[in-house]
Amino acid sequence: MQKEKSSLYKDNFSENRDLLMIPEVNSEKLAISENFLQKWQNCVNILAQIINVPSALIIKVDSQYLEVFRSNSSSTNPYNIGDRVHWDNHYCKHVIITRKMLLVPNALKDKKWDRNPDIELGMISYIGLPLLWPNGKAFGTICVLDNKENHYSSLYIALITQFRELSEAYLKLIWEKHKLGIVLDTQEKIEHKLFQKEKYAILGQLTSALGHELSNPLTSIKNAAYLLTLVLENPTMEIRENLEVLEKEVETSETIIRNFLEYTQPKPMKTSKIDINDFLKKIISQFGIPKNVELVTQLDADIPLLIADPEKLALILRNIILNAIHAITDHGQLIIRTGIENTNWVSISITDTGIGIAKKSLTMLYRPLFTTKPKGLGLGLAVVKNFVKAHDGYIEVKSELGKGSTFIIKLPSEKKEGK
Ligand SMILES: Nc1ncnc2c1ncn2[C@@H]1O[C@H](COP(=O)(O)OP(=O)(O)OP(=O)(O)O)[C@@H](O)[C@H]1O
Ligand SMILES: [Mg+2]
Repeated sequence: MQKEKSSLYKDNFSENRDLLMIPEVNSEKLAISENFLQKWQNCVNILAQIINVPSALIIKVDSQYLEVFRSNSSSTNPYNIGDRVHWDNHYCKHVIITRKMLLVPNALKDKKWDRNPDIELGMISYIGLPLLWPNGKAFGTICVLDNKENHYSSLYIALITQFRELSEAYLKLIWEKHKLGIVLDTQEKIEHKLFQKEKYAILGQLTSALGHELSNPLTSIKNAAYLLTLVLENPTMEIRENLEVLEKEVETSETIIRNFLEYTQPKPMKTSKIDINDFLKKIISQFGIPKNVELVTQLDADIPLLIADPEKLALILRNIILNAIHAITDHGQLIIRTGIENTNWVSISITDTGIGIAKKSLTMLYRPLFTTKPKGLGLGLAVVKNFVKAHDGYIEVKSELGKGSTFIIKLPSEKKEGK
């Protein structure tokens, strides 16, 4: 037990340590909101107007391509948003690689640039600066192109530099916002994990105390309640109802204790052949079915024996029946059926016409400690799942909110085992 407990803590610790490592922001995948797109659009429009050039662009680098990300709105501008070019032999490639400003007053007179692709679009001069994410990775460039020779005065260079700083400030904002999201998300996960860990720790401490010290008094209370029903000759309605409540509470408490023990210190399996119909009848007779629940049984008389551990089987049936009873908040039916599947499988289905299960809860039903009940521990179905797995069986659930749920368990029949 001690060994199991420490490995549990170790697992929790290493999981939490992994969680504490906040993942890197992947700048390539950051989405840029409409709001920022509009701000950048304004930047390029103003730049083109003030410098009096046909094109002012924000170019985004995308693996080996350059994409026109923002382009000023003007009829003389040949670049459209979304245009992509391979980045070979391109001014912007040079700017991104060197991380420096590039100024080409007249490409036609410059041997290095006299064959660059923008000449075909009539653009012969270029000035561009790199745009970087806060982690130093390249976003792209901010640049201006002219269809005539242009040396771009120092005033214009200062202006482009200002717009570049503004654009990088936007990139920083996008980045920080995303990072904050990751941090909050991570924090939530850590808190959730720590909470789970705490629950487990408490569970571990309570297990032995509850298991060994509470089961005996509970059995005594149950016996006393039963004796009282026999001894009291004409109990009042109120006394009878109170005794029923007591019996039900004891029943629930016993199931909780057994779930604790079964989940934290499972006993080895001891299987035997079981007549499931007789077995179910016995369990039902021990159960205090509340008055608001109408019990319907449809038991297949020709059902083969099944192979299971009777103690564990009793616990899982109690868990499912108890959940079904809890789900019937008003009046409803609890329908218990047995049947055969291909002679190899015995199926037990437990239906309630209760509140049903929300879709998002369906995926979490069997997780230990998942519960939607104020007093629930969320161990019942986790124990059920372990049981089904240990018996090489199957479990299915069908549920509709407001209409009810059906849990179907299929266990190997004696015939299957004999094969
Ligand atoms: N028949 C059902 N109808 C509606 N919801 C159900 C039903 N069975 C299970 N659930 C949902 O699944 C959750 C987990 O069930 P589970 O039996 O594991 O834990 P619990 O009943 O909450 O607590 P306990 O440990 O006391 O069993 C429940 O809290 C409930 O939300
Ligand atoms: Mg339960």
